[in-house]
Amino acid sequence: METTKKAKTHPDRFRYLNKMVIQPRLNTLPPALTELIDVTARHPKERFASSVDQLLLYQSLTFMMNAKKILDCGTLTGLSAFSFALGCGDDGHVYTIDVNEEFVSIGKKYWEKAGISNKITSILRSAVDVTKEMLKEHEGTFDIAYLDVPKEYYEVVYENLVPLLRPKGLLLVDNIFLDYLVFEEDESKHDELTTHVSNFNKRISSDDRMLNNFIDIGDGLAIAVKK
Ligand SMILES: C[S@@+](CC[C@H](N)C(=O)[O-])C[C@H]1O[C@@H](n2cnc3c(N)ncnc32)[C@H](O)[C@@H]1O
Repeated sequence: METTKKAKTHPDRFRYLNKMVIQPRLNTLPPALTELIDVTARHPKERFASSVDQLLLYQSLTFMMNAKKILDCGTLTGLSAFSFALGCGDDGHVYTIDVNEEFVSIGKKYWEKAGISNKITSILRSAVDVTKEMLKEHEGTFDIAYLDVPKEYYEVVYENLVPLLRPKGLLLVDNIFLDYLVFEEDESKHDELTTHVSNFNKRISSDDRMLNNFIDIGDGLAIAVKK
């Protein structure tokens, strides 16, 4: 049975999306966020940052859900935290976790500049430990969780994030295509990183607690709703 329409690609696809969505939306953002996007683009870890179309989607999803409590695992330079903070309004709050103080300090400067630092709590510890500890007091309370830490932690952090979400809460997981490496059907050809992501993808796809979707944005994004 053919289950999906064939992916349509066109050489002008990105140019058109850029003209119709990205540029108009960028014009509406606080200058501090567009500055942070530029600063991140020049950062040595730039390839780990969420893409601009992802950031715009995160702001929209947060706004659409009227999300007020967001958990962002993997801060880097603070772009995803910034997008969630913009989407969640003045009474929302973002908790963002990272182990690298140097990366996070870049984001803090721009959150401050945009006047949103009171809406973001940065936690400088491993997401593996923090999400586990959060289960004591925050179970079932997060509207959105974003999983964007090193791939070897995906499965263990995921198992904490699902109970942390409220029913109908949204889980976003980045890099589920891993540069298209997970498309290789012969798993004996997978390297360690690909095996982590591939195992994670199987886990989320077969998890009865979630309604899962994979979408082709950035490096592939899982958007899963908790039942
Ligand atoms: C892909 S980047 C995050 C990108 C960010 N969410 C964005 O939208 O631009 C991954 C981050 O995970 C951080 N990291 C590494 N180990 C971690 C851990 N055990 N717990 C939390 N964060 C970790 C890295 O320092 C890095 O900043």
